[in-house]
Order: sequence, then structure tokens, then C-alpha cells
Amino acid sequence: MTPRILVLNGPNLNLLGAREPTQYGHETLADLACLCANSARELGLELEFRQTNHEGELLDWIHAARGRCHGIVINPAAWTHTSVAIRDALVAAELPVIEVHLSNVHKREPFRHVSFVSSIATGVICGLGSQGYAMALGYFSRTLQEQAA
Ligand code: DQA
Repeated sequence: MTPRILVLNGPNLNLLGAREPTQYGHETLADLACLCANSARELGLELEFRQTNHEGELLDWIHAARGRCHGIVINPAAWTHTSVAIRDALVAAELPVIEVHLSNVHKREPFRHVSFVSSIATGVICGLGSQGYAMALGYFSRTLQEQAA
């Protein structure tokens, strides 16, 4: 069985590369998708990589992952700090979740220090740029293979 991991990206991340490069770097969303696809291939994972600016769409994707995927890597972007609905959907999905942020949110404005997701996540990676996504995939690959053995 090849573990299937869903990588979800929230609002404004479609503008990566152009948007606040001092915070988020010069890599585009397409670059990030490519990095995740390469990591998943090397790690033996099946990958679904998505981004949306519509909260309801993100909720639908999380619901659809229940019973179909083995883990979720999510950068909820600004919804991290606002959305009880995303937190509740992640709990309802009953899947391990890794929360990822490109920037170190704890070095930034106080409103970014609050996350509705962190307390229900297996782990949180922030401040390591796109490498954080690859690390999250590496974690899932190792732990899911251990569980299967
Ligand atoms: C972000 C951090 C959030 O505070 C911000 O709203 C984002 C991106 C990050 O990846 O660093 O859009 O999630």
C-alpha cells in the first residue's frame, strides 16, 4: 500500500514568489509543488497538492480526505489565525496533521502567534521555507512505513 498524503495550501499562497519575498522567498507555488512531488517520489508517497483562496473548498477537500488519505500537510496561511471551521474539519477527518508555515510566525506580528490548528496537529514546522514541506513528507513516510511493518 502506498501512503497517500494530501498537501493543502490556503489563501494568497498562489502568489508565492511575487508576494512579500522577504517573508516567503522567491519560489513560486509551482516550484513548491515540484519540490513536494520530487520528495514524495523519493519517499514512496502518493501526493495530492492543492491551493485555494476559498475556505469552503478547503473544508470540502479535508472532508474528502477522511478514509482516503493517510495524512495531511497543511499551510492554512491566514486561516491559521482565524478558522475554527478548518480546525474542526481536520479533527473530523481523523488523520494525522502536520501544520507548516514558510515563515517563522513567532518572529512576526502577535496575531500570527495564535493558531487554531497547532493544538490538534501532530507537529508544527515553521520558518524553514519550502524545506518544511519536504520534512513533513519525510516524517509521514517514515512513520507510516514503521506502522505498516
Ligand atoms: C504563512 C504565515 C501566515 O501568517 C500568513 O498569513 C501566510 C503564510 C506562512 O507560510 O508563513 O499567508 O502561513
